[in-house]
Amino acid sequence: MSRSAEVADAGTRSGTIACIVGARPNFMKMAPIMRAFDAEPRLPGTTLIHTGQHYDFAMSDALFRDLGLPVPDLNLEVGSASHAVQTAEVMTRIEPVLDALRPACVVVVGDVNSTLAVALVAAKKGVPVVHVEAGLRSHDRTMPEEVNRVLTDQLSDVLYTTERTAADNLAREGVPRDRVHFVGNVMIDSLLFHLSRAPSAADTLANAGADADIARGSRGFGVVTLHRPSNVDDPAALAESLAILRDVSLRLPIVWPMHPRTRASIEKFDLRRLAEDPRVVLLPPQGYLEMLGLLAAAKVVLTDSGGIQEETTALAVPCLTMRDNTERPITIAEGTNLLVGRDRNRIAAAVDDIIASGGKRGRRPELWDGQAASRIARHLASWLALREPRPAEVVA
Ligand code: UD1
Repeated sequence: MSRSAEVADAGTRSGTIACIVGARPNFMKMAPIMRAFDAEPRLPGTTLIHTGQHYDFAMSDALFRDLGLPVPDLNLEVGSASHAVQTAEVMTRIEPVLDALRPACVVVVGDVNSTLAVALVAAKKGVPVVHVEAGLRSHDRTMPEEVNRVLTDQLSDVLYTTERTAADNLAREGVPRDRVHFVGNVMIDSLLFHLSRAPSAADTLANAGADADIARGSRGFGVVTLHRPSNVDDPAALAESLAILRDVSLRLPIVWPMHPRTRASIEKFDLRRLAEDPRVVLLPPQGYLEMLGLLAAAKVVLTDSGGIQEETTALAVPCLTMRDNTERPITIAEGTNLLVGRDRNRIAAAVDDIIASGGKRGRRPELWDGQAASRIARHLASWLALREPRPAEVVA
């Protein structure tokens, strides 16, 4: 169908809830939300809009399939570009869609460029913005996600948070308290819903043509994910990260599903020789279920991802976060997470400790119980009902 025909078709759904996804970490957050919305009879129907920020099969379609997300009603197909162009493209392309749809609200999740772009357009049109995973702050404005978080929260009418510190961050930024609702973590809803279906790490390695014995050895294995600009966009930082991973691989084998951004940087900076190591298994981006299986079986996870800090806490698997800050402090205070930056000695010592004693155990944080999306659905139904014009208001 052409875009204008698609928009016209979508336009018949006035009053719908427009659910927006763009990039990989959005999908596991939106899947439980859409399931919960479907199950809440007081809510209108939903329209799923994919901005197309992520478009590779492995980064997008495979995850829709794994998570049971419906095929998007619309795909804006913005693709990759600079931040300015990508954000602007989403804004330009979502505008006529919102005009045609006239949704009851838009629901945006997380902190990617698509999140901010849609929030900005909706807010100026008077369409209520609902932000799921609001209030997280790294206090590091060099991270593009931090800029997206701060601005999206300023534009939002309803803000659902995953941990209690988020409300303090929002209060400091002047967001009215009555907009903020602590509901728990929808990412963990997905994890708990799907964990029993995850294939074993050995099967995932065998299917990828890698040595499955890595997952069967008594010493265990580490899982690595790295894609933040601070670690992979600069040749010196990337070379340093690769040297650290080589140190770790001398202690235990590593499985590394590589993000396309990281793969592109390794090629561009000609660092392939540093990444090639018989004890480092490089895999393409994995499906959601495969990734869960790998994380759950890992002895240690090294990452710069936000979501994986939370998933490892929920799985009680030690996590070493290769960043200097985190917007998810509860994973440090209560979970299994340690911030290690690119401190080579610290990382080697932490891995040794994990091999010797199992590392940090932690506990699952408050309301990370698999029910966050249901809480959102119930609250949003009440919130929308209160906004509907009542007969008395309509009568002059
Ligand atoms: C984006 C998010 C980040 C999130 C990450 C998860 C922003 C600012 N960043 O970063 O918060 O943690 O997604 O993956 O929104 N590419 C492909 N195929 C794809 C998508 C991307 O090859 O399907 C490559 C392209 O070379 C592209 C690069 O990855 O230029 C970066 O993609 P982009 O969406 O700009 O940012 P991410 O690094 O994926």
